[in-house]
Amino acid sequence: MKTNEQVNTACQQCQFDNSVDQGKRQTIKWVSMGGLTMLPFMNAQAQSDGTPIYLVDADAENDFKPLRPDDLAIGKPLLVFPFDSKSGKPKNESRMNKLVVIRLPEDQMTSETRARSASGVLAYSGICTHQSCEVKTWISKENALACFCHASKFALLDSAKVVGGPAPRPLPAISLVMSGEFLSVVASSPANQGSQS
Ligand code: FES
Repeated sequence: MKTNEQVNTACQQCQFDNSVDQGKRQTIKWVSMGGLTMLPFMNAQAQSDGTPIYLVDADAENDFKPLRPDDLAIGKPLLVFPFDSKSGKPKNESRMNKLVVIRLPEDQMTSETRARSASGVLAYSGICTHQSCEVKTWISKENALACFCHASKFALLDSAKVVGGPAPRPLPAISLVMSGEFLSVVASSPANQGSQS
Protein backbone atom coordinates (compact mmCIF):
# COMPACT_ATOMS: atom_id res chain seq x y z
CA MET A 1 0.00 0.00 0.00
CA LYS A 2 1.30 3.43 -0.93
CA THR A 3 2.08 5.95 1.72
CA ASN A 4 0.56 9.40 1.42
CA GLU A 5 3.96 10.67 0.41
CA GLN A 6 4.14 8.21 -2.48
CA VAL A 7 0.66 9.11 -3.64
CA ASN A 8 1.52 12.79 -3.60
CA THR A 9 4.65 12.19 -5.59
CA ALA A 10 2.69 10.30 -8.22
CA CYS A 11 0.23 13.12 -8.69
CA GLN A 12 1.12 15.26 -11.69
CA GLN A 13 -0.85 18.27 -10.57
CA CYS A 14 0.67 18.04 -7.10
CA GLN A 15 4.09 17.93 -8.72
CA PHE A 16 3.10 21.13 -10.49
CA ASP A 17 2.07 22.62 -7.17
CA ASN A 18 5.34 21.59 -5.59
CA SER A 19 7.17 23.37 -8.38
CA VAL A 20 5.45 26.66 -7.61
CA ASP A 21 7.84 28.74 -5.59
CA GLN A 22 6.69 29.86 -2.21
CA GLY A 23 6.60 33.53 -3.19
CA LYS A 24 4.19 32.87 -6.05
CA ARG A 25 2.13 30.62 -3.83
CA GLN A 26 1.70 33.59 -1.51
CA THR A 27 0.32 35.72 -4.32
CA ILE A 28 -2.23 33.23 -5.58
CA LYS A 29 -3.57 31.70 -2.42
CA TRP A 30 -7.14 32.29 -1.41
CA VAL A 31 -7.77 35.05 1.05
CA SER A 32 -10.05 34.54 3.98
CA MET A 33 -12.01 37.59 5.10
CA GLY A 34 -14.39 37.41 7.99
CA GLY A 35 -14.89 33.70 7.48
CA LEU A 36 -15.47 34.06 3.73
CA THR A 37 -13.02 32.97 1.09
CA MET A 38 -12.08 35.34 -1.70
CA LEU A 39 -10.66 33.95 -4.92
CA PRO A 40 -7.93 36.04 -6.60
CA PHE A 41 -10.25 37.47 -9.28
CA MET A 42 -12.52 38.84 -6.57
CA ASN A 43 -9.97 41.30 -5.25
CA ALA A 44 -10.51 44.98 -4.71
CA GLN A 45 -10.95 46.02 -8.32
CA ALA A 46 -13.51 43.32 -9.00
CA GLN A 47 -15.96 44.92 -11.39
CA SER A 48 -16.79 47.87 -9.16
CA ASP A 49 -18.46 49.51 -12.17
CA GLY A 50 -21.03 46.73 -12.41
CA THR A 51 -19.70 45.22 -15.65
CA PRO A 52 -20.82 41.58 -15.69
CA ILE A 53 -18.15 38.98 -15.05
CA TYR A 54 -18.95 36.35 -17.63
CA LEU A 55 -17.50 32.85 -17.69
CA VAL A 56 -15.43 31.36 -20.51
CA ASP A 57 -14.06 27.88 -21.17
CA ALA A 58 -10.65 27.70 -19.49
CA ASP A 59 -9.31 25.77 -22.50
CA ALA A 60 -10.63 28.20 -25.10
CA GLU A 61 -7.20 29.73 -25.72
CA ASN A 62 -8.04 32.96 -27.55
CA ASP A 63 -11.52 32.09 -28.75
CA PHE A 64 -13.40 33.29 -25.68
CA LYS A 65 -17.17 33.11 -25.76
CA PRO A 66 -19.29 33.92 -22.70
CA LEU A 67 -21.18 30.82 -21.63
CA ARG A 68 -24.92 30.38 -21.76
CA PRO A 69 -26.63 27.69 -19.66
CA ASP A 70 -27.45 25.75 -22.82
CA ASP A 71 -23.75 25.49 -23.63
CA LEU A 72 -23.48 23.06 -20.73
CA ALA A 73 -24.82 19.52 -20.99
CA ILE A 74 -26.48 18.33 -17.80
CA GLY A 75 -23.99 16.61 -15.52
CA LYS A 76 -20.91 17.58 -17.57
CA PRO A 77 -18.60 19.81 -15.56
CA LEU A 78 -16.49 22.43 -17.29
CA LEU A 79 -13.51 24.37 -15.99
CA VAL A 80 -13.91 28.07 -16.70
CA PHE A 81 -12.26 31.41 -16.04
CA PRO A 82 -14.04 34.61 -15.04
CA PHE A 83 -13.92 36.89 -18.09
CA ASP A 84 -13.22 40.60 -18.28
CA SER A 85 -15.53 41.80 -21.01
CA LYS A 86 -13.72 45.15 -21.23
CA SER A 87 -10.32 43.70 -22.06
CA GLY A 88 -11.73 40.67 -23.86
CA LYS A 89 -9.57 38.36 -21.74
CA PRO A 90 -9.95 36.21 -18.65
CA LYS A 91 -9.64 38.37 -15.57
CA ASN A 92 -6.63 36.50 -14.30
CA GLU A 93 -5.44 33.19 -15.65
CA SER A 94 -3.96 32.06 -12.37
CA ARG A 95 -5.08 28.46 -12.00
CA MET A 96 -6.39 29.40 -8.55
CA ASN A 97 -9.08 31.38 -10.38
CA LYS A 98 -10.39 28.35 -12.22
CA LEU A 99 -14.00 27.62 -11.46
CA VAL A 100 -15.92 24.48 -12.20
CA VAL A 101 -19.45 24.97 -13.53
CA ILE A 102 -22.04 22.27 -13.94
CA ARG A 103 -25.70 22.19 -14.90
CA LEU A 104 -27.79 20.00 -12.60
CA PRO A 105 -31.49 19.50 -11.86
CA GLU A 106 -32.65 22.40 -9.70
CA ASP A 107 -35.18 20.25 -7.87
CA GLN A 108 -32.33 18.14 -6.48
CA MET A 109 -30.45 21.12 -5.01
CA THR A 110 -30.77 22.20 -1.41
CA SER A 111 -32.48 25.57 -1.11
CA GLU A 112 -29.20 27.24 -0.16
CA THR A 113 -27.46 25.82 -3.21
CA ARG A 114 -30.35 26.62 -5.54
CA ALA A 115 -30.23 30.24 -4.38
CA ARG A 116 -26.67 30.46 -5.75
CA SER A 117 -27.51 28.87 -9.08
CA ALA A 118 -28.61 30.47 -12.34
CA SER A 119 -30.77 28.49 -14.75
CA GLY A 120 -29.67 25.26 -13.07
CA VAL A 121 -25.97 26.06 -13.31
CA LEU A 122 -23.74 25.94 -10.24
CA ALA A 123 -20.23 27.35 -9.85
CA TYR A 124 -17.54 26.41 -7.37
CA SER A 125 -13.82 26.88 -7.17
CA GLY A 126 -12.28 24.27 -9.46
CA ILE A 127 -9.32 23.84 -7.12
CA CYS A 128 -9.44 21.10 -4.51
CA THR A 129 -9.23 22.26 -0.91
CA HIS A 130 -6.84 19.41 -0.11
CA GLN A 131 -3.72 20.00 -2.20
CA SER A 132 -4.98 22.20 -5.04
CA CYS A 133 -5.56 19.70 -7.83
CA GLU A 134 -8.29 20.55 -10.33
CA VAL A 135 -11.65 18.95 -9.62
CA LYS A 136 -13.65 18.13 -12.72
CA THR A 137 -15.01 14.60 -12.63
CA TRP A 138 -18.72 14.19 -11.99
CA ILE A 139 -19.85 10.86 -10.55
CA SER A 140 -23.55 10.90 -11.32
CA LYS A 141 -24.54 7.89 -9.25
CA GLU A 142 -23.04 9.58 -6.19
CA ASN A 143 -24.03 13.14 -7.13
CA ALA A 144 -20.48 14.11 -6.33
CA LEU A 145 -17.58 15.87 -7.99
CA ALA A 146 -14.36 13.94 -7.51
CA CYS A 147 -10.75 14.95 -7.25
CA PHE A 148 -8.64 12.12 -8.52
CA CYS A 149 -5.45 13.16 -6.80
CA HIS A 150 -6.48 11.63 -3.48
CA ALA A 151 -10.17 10.79 -4.06
CA SER A 152 -11.91 13.63 -2.29
CA LYS A 153 -15.58 13.98 -3.23
CA PHE A 154 -17.82 17.03 -2.98
CA ALA A 155 -21.63 17.06 -2.93
CA LEU A 156 -22.31 19.89 -5.36
CA LEU A 157 -26.07 19.77 -4.87
CA ASP A 158 -25.47 20.54 -1.21
CA SER A 159 -22.90 23.36 -1.03
CA ALA A 160 -20.01 21.10 -2.09
CA LYS A 161 -19.85 19.45 1.30
CA VAL A 162 -17.02 16.95 1.57
CA VAL A 163 -18.46 13.44 1.30
CA GLY A 164 -15.23 11.49 0.84
CA GLY A 165 -11.47 11.73 0.92
CA PRO A 166 -9.08 13.99 2.77
CA ALA A 167 -10.31 17.45 1.65
CA PRO A 168 -10.66 19.54 4.81
CA ARG A 169 -13.31 21.96 3.52
CA PRO A 170 -16.04 22.30 0.90
CA LEU A 171 -15.14 23.89 -2.41
CA PRO A 172 -15.70 27.64 -2.21
CA ALA A 173 -19.11 28.35 -3.76
CA ILE A 174 -19.74 31.19 -6.19
CA SER A 175 -23.11 32.79 -6.77
CA LEU A 176 -24.25 33.06 -10.38
CA VAL A 177 -26.83 35.25 -12.03
CA MET A 178 -28.09 35.63 -15.58
CA SER A 179 -26.86 38.75 -17.39
CA GLY A 180 -29.10 38.68 -20.40
CA GLU A 181 -28.56 35.29 -21.99
CA PHE A 182 -25.16 34.74 -20.36
CA LEU A 183 -24.04 33.36 -17.02
CA SER A 184 -22.16 35.79 -14.81
CA VAL A 185 -20.63 35.83 -11.37
CA VAL A 186 -22.10 37.85 -8.53
CA ALA A 187 -18.89 39.76 -7.79
CA SER A 188 -20.13 41.31 -4.59
CA SER A 189 -20.70 37.94 -2.95
CA PRO A 190 -17.41 36.29 -2.08
CA ALA A 191 -17.23 32.57 -2.09
CA ASN A 192 -19.28 31.50 0.86
CA GLN A 193 -17.79 28.15 1.65
CA GLY A 194 -14.37 26.70 2.12
CA SER A 195 -13.11 29.26 4.59
CA GLN A 196 -9.55 28.53 5.59
CA SER A 197 -9.99 30.05 9.01
S1 FES B 1 -5.72 17.35 -4.02
FE1 FES B 1 -5.88 15.69 -2.66
S2 FES B 1 -7.94 15.05 -2.85
FE2 FES B 1 -7.78 16.75 -4.14
